[in-house]
Amino acid sequence: MAKPKVAILGGRGMLGSDVAFACRQNGFTTTVFDLPKFDIRNKSHLTTALKQVEAVINCAAYTNVDKAETQTELAYQINAEAVKKLGQIAKKTNTWLLHISTDFVFDGKKKKPYSESDKPNPINAYGKTKLKGEQFLAETDCKYSIMRIEWTYGLSGNNFVKKIVNRSKTQKHLKVVDDQLGSPTATAQVAKVICELLEKEPQDIFHYAADGYVSRFQIAKFILEKINIPVDLIACKTDDFPSDAARPLNSCFECSKIKEFLKQPIEHWQQALERFLHKL
Ligand SMILES: NC(=O)c1ccc[n+]([C@@H]2O[C@H](COP(=O)([O-])OP(=O)(O)OC[C@H]3O[C@@H](n4cnc5c(N)ncnc54)[C@H](OP(=O)(O)O)[C@@H]3O)[C@@H](O)[C@H]2O)c1
Repeated sequence: MAKPKVAILGGRGMLGSDVAFACRQNGFTTTVFDLPKFDIRNKSHLTTALKQVEAVINCAAYTNVDKAETQTELAYQINAEAVKKLGQIAKKTNTWLLHISTDFVFDGKKKKPYSESDKPNPINAYGKTKLKGEQFLAETDCKYSIMRIEWTYGLSGNNFVKKIVNRSKTQKHLKVVDDQLGSPTATAQVAKVICELLEKEPQDIFHYAADGYVSRFQIAKFILEKINIPVDLIACKTDDFPSDAARPLNSCFECSKIKEFLKQPIEHWQQALERFLHKL
């Protein structure tokens, strides 16, 4: 099969930039669409973008979890309504679409890792808009997959890993929550898998995260040991950090479905994070 021409929506964001890079490395003819020239809410922008390609990766999103509590309408337009328009146009043009979603569609109350068949129940506005996007997409009946990811970090964009590294340079004490569990996942890892999905164009829903489960406190401890900066790390609870949006305490994903589909294991979070810290 010839490699499809690919559009990366939100291709200048943290994930999108790594996806665009990986697609080019893997020989896909790749076009990046992002603000300010491309607005995913604009139907004619979407139509123009989809005319040029055979496959679309949607990394565009409203991603400020706390601000989404007050800018809910804007988040809904980008994360839900625009995804519906995108699916409708993809249906007309018969374009395969990979839509990126999130662990925040779950409430985090389950005692085990979440699998694709678990019922979503978002506990904040951002999660609600992302879930609505998934549901709208299903209604369009286009050829699509959803890939839910979690706790991502990359070179561009703000993320937990960069925050810990930066704060360790100026602060002697760092408070980090030890009651949120998940898997820190490099956007470079996600991008590699997206390239493999592009080769197969499945129509399914997948959970993807780095291998292994860990608390945010343990990640911070790992980072500080690796960069060798002596900081007094203090474990605390999510409730000690009041924030506008509630956070799910369990973000762990069961990833056996994507492992079976790709017929390969997933790299452990520690190896990927160590490589990232070297680059940083
Ligand atoms: N970061 C995480 O930990 C995480 C976890 C789970 C899932 N995800 C999902 O991963 C995907 C990628 O997110 P990310 O982490 O790469 O966030 P990001 O860096 O904020 O990327 C989102 C991109 O979408 C663009 N965008 C926003 N509004 C747009 C609009 N109206 N039209 C076109 N583009 C628009 C943003 O542009 P501006 O920067 O100019 O606004 C940005 O380039 C999202 O679906 C997100 O929900 C992220």
